[in-house]
Amino acid sequence: MFDRVAEIQTEAEAAIGAGVNTAELEELRVRYLGRKAELTTILRGIAELPAEERGKVGGAANKARKSLESQLEAKAAQLDASELDARLTADQIDVTLPGAPSRPSGHLHLITRTMRQIEDVMVGLGYRVMEGPEIEHDYYNFTALNHPEGHPARMLQDTFYLQSHPEVLLRTHTSPMQIRAMETQGPPIFIVVPGKVYRRDSDATHSPMFHQIEGLAIGEGITLADLQGTLLEMLRAIFGESREARMRPHFFPFTEPSVEFDVSCFQCEGTGSLADGERCNLCKGIGWIEVGGAGMVDPNVLGFVEGNGYDAERVQGFAFGMGVERIAMLRHGVPDLRRFFDNDVRVLGQFL
Ligand code: PHE
Repeated sequence: MFDRVAEIQTEAEAAIGAGVNTAELEELRVRYLGRKAELTTILRGIAELPAEERGKVGGAANKARKSLESQLEAKAAQLDASELDARLTADQIDVTLPGAPSRPSGHLHLITRTMRQIEDVMVGLGYRVMEGPEIEHDYYNFTALNHPEGHPARMLQDTFYLQSHPEVLLRTHTSPMQIRAMETQGPPIFIVVPGKVYRRDSDATHSPMFHQIEGLAIGEGITLADLQGTLLEMLRAIFGESREARMRPHFFPFTEPSVEFDVSCFQCEGTGSLADGERCNLCKGIGWIEVGGAGMVDPNVLGFVEGNGYDAERVQGFAFGMGVERIAMLRHGVPDLRRFFDNDVRVLGQFL
């Protein structure tokens, strides 16, 4: 038995010495030191040996085991190092080559960003965002918004109608959502409506498709002063903290009274002239810039949603609407609105 241990050790040492890779080394570990290895079996059977052999065989077998373990370890370390060397030589990377071209990360379109910014401000004031159909019924776009028959806005020169369905059109403003929203929810209601609208119009400041954002607030005791305060809050968030807001009398069929609202010019601080004494080109020397239309919702409009809880004797409120492109053009000094829709990334990439 004692001799057998020595034989095993010699054989194993030779095999370990000749091992060429870590996989083979693992096989050798199993073969000579594994659970079923002869040396393991000998060690396990020590107790059954005659007393005088136990010490000698046990000592030798343990020594052989320890010696083989450390030889395997040393050989493994050596092979690991040379295998790493081999991999490093084979997997050579030329770090002097130029890296992968940088990939632009992209960002939202300026119009989307502008709409979302306005939505955020209004949500902060307690409004909800609602969207509605771009293909609209004459009833929502005009009739329920108090446009009498024959109103010029209804005419073919301004509005895209469906040839097959003359009462169906591309909405000319986001205001039809005032009616649709009130049909789905009783007062009080506070909503903003971003979206695309369509008009037969095309030049540097008009496109047949453009974006509006509409606001509607109806409840008890809402006044024109609330409209002024709301517009001021919104315009300051968009154009800067030191802006002022003003309203001028105007006319819309669905508001009474109606106004157009302006923001004090952010280029000349509302003075109308620049530091060098030149007339301010942004506000044309007026000190104010027109932003949108608004007014107190006409009781006739509420009459169309009376059945939904809008009793004009009890509730009232305001609505406003503005063009998103116009706001983006003003803020970024873009001279031609059509550039927003050419999808030239050299242009769009400037507005981060
Ligand atoms: N819908 C009007 C327009 O497109 C703007 C507006 C909205 C006016 C709400 C008053 C109230 O010109």
